[in-house]
Amino acid sequence: MSELVIRRVRPYGEGEPVDVRIVDGTIVAIGADAAAEAAGSDAAGSVEEIDGAGGILLPGLVDLHTHLREPGREDTETIETGSAAAALGGFTAVFAMANTNPVADSHVVTDHVWKRGREIGLVDVHPVGAVTVGLEGKKLAELGVMAAGVGRVRVFSDDGKCVHDPLLMRRALEYSVHLDAVIAQHAEEPRLTEQAVAHEGPTASKLGLAGWPRAAEESIVARDAILARDAGARVHVCHASTAGTVEILRWAKGQGIAITAEVTPHHLFLDDSRLVDYDPVFRVNPPLRENTDVAALRQALADGIIDAVATDHAPHAEQDKCVEFGLARPGMLGLQTALSIVVATMVQPGLLDWRGVARVMSEAPARIGGLDDQGRPIEVGAPANLVVVDPDAEWTVHGPDLASLSVNTPYEGITLPATVTATILRGTVTARDGATVSAPDESVV
Ligand code: DOR
Ligand code: ZN
Repeated sequence: MSELVIRRVRPYGEGEPVDVRIVDGTIVAIGADAAAEAAGSDAAGSVEEIDGAGGILLPGLVDLHTHLREPGREDTETIETGSAAAALGGFTAVFAMANTNPVADSHVVTDHVWKRGREIGLVDVHPVGAVTVGLEGKKLAELGVMAAGVGRVRVFSDDGKCVHDPLLMRRALEYSVHLDAVIAQHAEEPRLTEQAVAHEGPTASKLGLAGWPRAAEESIVARDAILARDAGARVHVCHASTAGTVEILRWAKGQGIAITAEVTPHHLFLDDSRLVDYDPVFRVNPPLRENTDVAALRQALADGIIDAVATDHAPHAEQDKCVEFGLARPGMLGLQTALSIVVATMVQPGLLDWRGVARVMSEAPARIGGLDDQGRPIEVGAPANLVVVDPDAEWTVHGPDLASLSVNTPYEGITLPATVTATILRGTVTARDGATVSAPDESVV
């Protein structure tokens, strides 16, 4: 029997502090007496304890959009280092995007990613399957075979690239219905973004950077909403970045279309004014937009028009990132800073309370990704996938201190609110006070 007691935490940041007792991965008691019960049963074995010190208890965070770079670019991130970054960031499950090398377009790759995640045991690594073979946008991948594998793929995406052929997208949506899966679209009409490296607007004009119009995203979001409607399918919009996308989502949801969307922490925090120094750390797809878009994205997340926060954690090597702006690979780190950025952009301005954070960083992403063991209410009988947060602590971001193999954080030197005291996966502590706790669970591989 394994037993863990979390002392003095406030579930969802509400009410007086309570103790939470966990036995064999399940919450068995919550309340003032929970710890006393544990003390009484101590004879059965040692009881591990975490002192929450009056901090906040949330369901473990779930990231719908992570790039772990294994297989293929293990010099920039591996499933192991990415899992560590995730656990330290408060995540208990992540979805690993398919744009690896080889591409995750077959069950050989998706099953490997799942098993490797389980071997490491720090976070559940759910493989995302590619929609098209080799992300080439020409031929559908074997969605059904990936769904039937041990990796049980339920999210398919060509992220990094858009499934821009409307007929292929239509077919993918039709198939996904029978697999109870979702197609997550990187909404970018490629004809409108040829050569583009920055948001099309006054800043890009001034800097002489080729512009990426909002329409490149919005035209695909509108099209896919209509295709999903006709297929009776679920479509998910990756990294929504414009005020216009918010309006299309509002319309589509109002029509009863099964469309969901995520926003990244960086699109909630940063705008294109950051590009003035041509610092390539700020190059990302979709690009940082204008402050009016940032405001619309924050409001949409508060209102539920945007369902979830997803990191788009995108590690890159120095030699691919520290080059001329237009040649730098797009993308930035996100796993260890996501919660703090959501606190800074949503909680501190009063747009979300902690229950809202649980909704957008755990419950909604778990639901969209088809996970029934994550994002569950904190109650007796629920699986103990949890995170303890110190809302009053602050920390200063320093790339080399992060667990990632890459250092391309856009928050270098910035002091952020809130730290993760502990992360708990199925009753096992995976991170504590800024360090991971290795806990391979061989029995479930
Ligand atoms: O900035 C990005 N980086 N956007 C994407 O869609 C892909 C990602 C990556 O894989 O680096
Ligand atoms: Zn993308």
